Amino acid sequence: MTREPIGFADLCVNVHDLWSRKWLLLTAGDFAAGEFNAMTVGWGSLGVMWNRPFAQVVVRPTRHTHGFTERWDSFTLCAFPEAQRGALKLLGSRSGRDGDKIAATGLTPVASQRIGAPGYAEAELILECRKIYWDDLEPQQFLHPGIEENYPQKDYHRVYFGEIVAIAGTPAYRRSPPA
Ligand SMILES: Cc1cc2nc3c(=O)[nH]c(=O)nc-3n(C[C@H](O)[C@H](O)[C@H](O)COP(=O)(O)O)c2cc1C
Repeated sequence: MTREPIGFADLCVNVHDLWSRKWLLLTAGDFAAGEFNAMTVGWGSLGVMWNRPFAQVVVRPTRHTHGFTERWDSFTLCAFPEAQRGALKLLGSRSGRDGDKIAATGLTPVASQRIGAPGYAEAELILECRKIYWDDLEPQQFLHPGIEENYPQKDYHRVYFGEIVAIAGTPAYRRSPPA
């Protein structure tokens, strides 16, 4: 996949479509050390905080990926063409605890520009994020009664904010210049 660097101000995404329909692949760890894991994510946000562009993800402590988001200082979020839907389904249903699921998808991890966590050769969008904040969801602060239903195991998510330090994407992810 041919990607170009994109500035945050020029990033063009429909955020609801990206998270809810397309899904993203969260990869945490360090490519050079050969220690990383990936899981499909559908909940999160993109925005600006402390004057920094950020991506925010939520990871249940029961995920194998959780050990990597804890141990390492960076993660990537990658979007893929529809042809990789099967890979995202696999990475979102099997655990890296039980074998090399990334190899099973045939995806090719590649070094990032500015962080240790890898992206993928097949990705159409790569957001490189450096962790800047975490917090744990507190069930006593859920204001909608339906939220608790997401946690029958009481494995409340840990929230991570990552400063977006680099973006690479296909031209579709770049805002067109004004006519
Ligand atoms: C579409 C989709 C979205 C998901 N979103 C999240 C999420 O935002 N947070 C989370 O903790 N798990 C999420 N999951 C579940 C993990 O991807 C799944 O449990 C995965 O197998 C964990 O892999 P791991 O044990 O190797 O970390 C999602 C799964 C799918 C299929």
